[in-house]
Amino acid sequence: MKITVLHGPNLNLLGTRQPEYYGTLSLADIDEKVTARCGHHGVSVACHQYNGEGPLIDAVHQSIEGDGLLINPGAYAHTSLALADALECLQIPIIEVHLSNVHARDAMRHKMLTARAVSGVITGLKANSYLLGVDALVSLMKRSA
Ligand code: DQA
Repeated sequence: MKITVLHGPNLNLLGTRQPEYYGTLSLADIDEKVTARCGHHGVSVACHQYNGEGPLIDAVHQSIEGDGLLINPGAYAHTSLALADALECLQIPIIEVHLSNVHARDAMRHKMLTARAVSGVITGLKANSYLLGVDALVSLMKRSA
């Protein structure tokens, strides 16, 4: 079984970007932890990051080649109907994650356009959002296998 992990805009800056919200781990650190967690579950993983909405949507389309998608859409979670539509086209389990607790932040971040298109959302646990996201995704993948 194979998982695709997609990180949205500005997440390439993790480590230095607003650590009070996002923690101090870099994106490479998070990918390493996610890869180890996937290894623990016996699933393979490919991690990618895109700043642009179009490339991120293309990558969502390509994730159909795998068995599950873990996505942190970044700010596109709050703004992109096109990304939500792309997620809705997938027939594989999808978990959305956010490092920060978006519900405890400014009101613009309370609107979650992509959330309606995914199986579940994990938000506010910093890097652990991703690791719990892997656990949830693997359990959904096993259920639908
Ligand atoms: C984020 C939350 C979004 O509101 C923000 O725009 C991000 C990161 C998170 O992981 O907490 O870029 O998705």
